Amino acid sequence: MLTEMENLVDLDTLSIRELNDLLDLALMYQEGKNAPTLKRDVRIANLFFENSTRTVTSFQMAEHRLGLSRFDISVAGSSVQKGESLEDTIKTIQAIGMDIAVVRHPATGWYRELVADRNLHLSLVNAGDGAGVHPSQTLLDLMTIKKEFGHFDGLKVAIVGDLSHSRVANSDAKIFRKLGMSIRFAGPEEWWSEELAPFGSFEKLDDLLADVDVCMCLRVQLERIGQAGRATFTANDYHQQYGLTKARAERLKKTAIIMHPAPVNRGIELDDELVESKQSRIFDQMANGVYARMAMLTRILEERDLLEKE
Ligand code: CP
Repeated sequence: MLTEMENLVDLDTLSIRELNDLLDLALMYQEGKNAPTLKRDVRIANLFFENSTRTVTSFQMAEHRLGLSRFDISVAGSSVQKGESLEDTIKTIQAIGMDIAVVRHPATGWYRELVADRNLHLSLVNAGDGAGVHPSQTLLDLMTIKKEFGHFDGLKVAIVGDLSHSRVANSDAKIFRKLGMSIRFAGPEEWWSEELAPFGSFEKLDDLLADVDVCMCLRVQLERIGQAGRATFTANDYHQQYGLTKARAERLKKTAIIMHPAPVNRGIELDDELVESKQSRIFDQMANGVYARMAMLTRILEERDLLEKE
C-alpha cells in the first residue's frame, strides 16, 4: 500500500502545508523552474474512461516536460470492452511495468478500494471520478486565484450551476474553505446538493453577484442528468435564470474574475462574449493546468524516491 502522496486521488487528504507546497511548486514551474532529473526511466499510463480535452492533454504535456515515458491507453480498444474490471486493468498495466496511472472514470470513488489494495504498488492519480472530486482541476483553480489575488484568506467565491453533478464544485468547495475562502452557491434548486451545505450557503444568483471576488460557472452536465431532466431542460431558460449574462456580469466588482472549468456551453452557463472577456480567466485556467499537473506528478516522483537530489 502506498502513502497519500504516492497516490494523489483527493486533495482533501493533504494538510494545508502540503497543499501550499504543491501550489508553490506549480507556480515555480510556471515561472520557469526546470524539471528535476529522474533516477531511472519512469513509465506512466493515461487511462481515460470518460471524454477529456484539457485534463488528458495537460497531463500529457506535464509528463512530456518531466521526461516521463508516456503510454496512452485507448480504452475503446482495450479489454475493458470485453468486460475486464478497472481493478484488473490497473493490475495488468502494473504487471507490464507502469509506475504511475492517471485515471478518469465515471464511477465516483473508483480509487477507494484500489489505494487500499496491498498488491498494488503503482501510483494512482485521480483525473476525475464521476461526481466525486477533480484534484488537478482544484489545484489549477487555486493557481488561477493565487496569481490574481496573491492570497486566499477572506476571498468570496460564487460557484454557480449544476452543483449536484459537479466533481469540480465538490472538490473546490472543500479545499477553498480549508484555505480560508468563503463560498456561496447558486443555481437550479433541483441541482442543489445538501452535501455541499457544510461549505457554503445556497442563494439566489442575483443576490450574490455584487459581493464576490470569483464567479465560477459550472458546466451543465446533461450526460449525468436523467432522461426526464434532459427532456425538460431548456438552454435558453437556464441561461436567463442561472447563466452569467452580460447584464449580470456588469454587476460584478471590477476586480472580480470569471472562471469555468470548461468545456463551456457558450450561451448557456455564460454569454459567449464573456468567455474571452477582460474579467475571464477561463483560458488561463487551462494554461495553469499543465503546471498544476507537473507539480502533482513531481510530488509522487519525490515520494517514490525517483528524483535525483537538486
Ligand atoms: N475541466 C476538465 O476536466 O476538462 P476536460 O473534461 O476537457 O478534461
